[in-house]
Amino acid sequence: MKGRRGGLIAIGIGLAVFLALATYPFWHAAGKAMPVPELDLETPAIRALPARLCVAPTAEMKTRHMQILDEWRTEVVRNGRRTFETPDGRRFDRSLTRTCMQCHSNKERFCDRCHDYAGVKPKCWDCHIVPETPSGEASAAVAGKGTLK
Ligand code: HEC
Ligand code: HEC
Ligand code: HEC
Repeated sequence: MKGRRGGLIAIGIGLAVFLALATYPFWHAAGKAMPVPELDLETPAIRALPARLCVAPTAEMKTRHMQILDEWRTEVVRNGRRTFETPDGRRFDRSLTRTCMQCHSNKERFCDRCHDYAGVKPKCWDCHIVPETPSGEASAAVAGKGTLK
């Protein structure tokens, strides 16, 4: 009898330790001030923008950028519509490489930081080129595209 109870206690302790470890990422993250790692928005193209705006409002970009990219691909590949116009009249080429990655030319310090943290591994880069230069200066080419009408 005694041995059996001891076994149950051991299981109880084992379970408590397991739960603490299994839920660690959650309560550990909850104690942090920032929900996501620090994102670097300081690229030459973004610094050159007349207004620091993305292709959609920031809150929408945070939650919907994957859908936006998906819509862009469908528009280009199926419908041949390359030009995207924002409600405030800014025009962009619907392109992952020539648009997103020109402003966000620091993939490692922007897209990757967030994806690594979230455990997401987009396969896009198997085919699409990352137009990244160590200094990022090639990205200034898109700066004019952010001009408000
Ligand atoms: C004209 C330059 C430009 C282009 C093109 C652009 N972005 Fe952005 N993006 C920005 C700027 C500037 C911000 C930050 C806006 C702010 O400070 O609120 C931003 C913010 C974001 C954010 C939110 C980051 C956060 O704070 O959590 C995501 C995600 C994002 N962009 C993804 C994309 C994707 C994907 C594309 C292509 C579909 C794209 N961006 C195209 C300039 C751009
Ligand atoms: C603020 C954090 C954040 C930033 C910054 C960010 N992403 Fe994401 N991204 C996510 C999260 C989270 C998901 C997964 C969402 C889901 O599964 O619903 C995701 C998913 C995606 C997907 C879909 C992946 C798939 O396999 O279906 C693509 C494509 C993508 N991101 C592209 C980009 C690009 C390109 C950039 C940089 C220009 C970027 N993201 C920047 C958080 C971010
Ligand atoms: C198997 C290869 C492959 C993969 C993987 C892939 N693409 Fe593409 N994608 C293409 C090809 C080919 C085109 C057509 C190129 C064109 O018409 O300019 C294209 C076009 C696009 C376009 C419109 C044109 C442009 O210049 O960007 C977008 C946006 C796009 N893909 C987004 C994505 C995203 C986001 C992912 C990851 C979730 C992805 N693709 C993964 C091959 C791929």
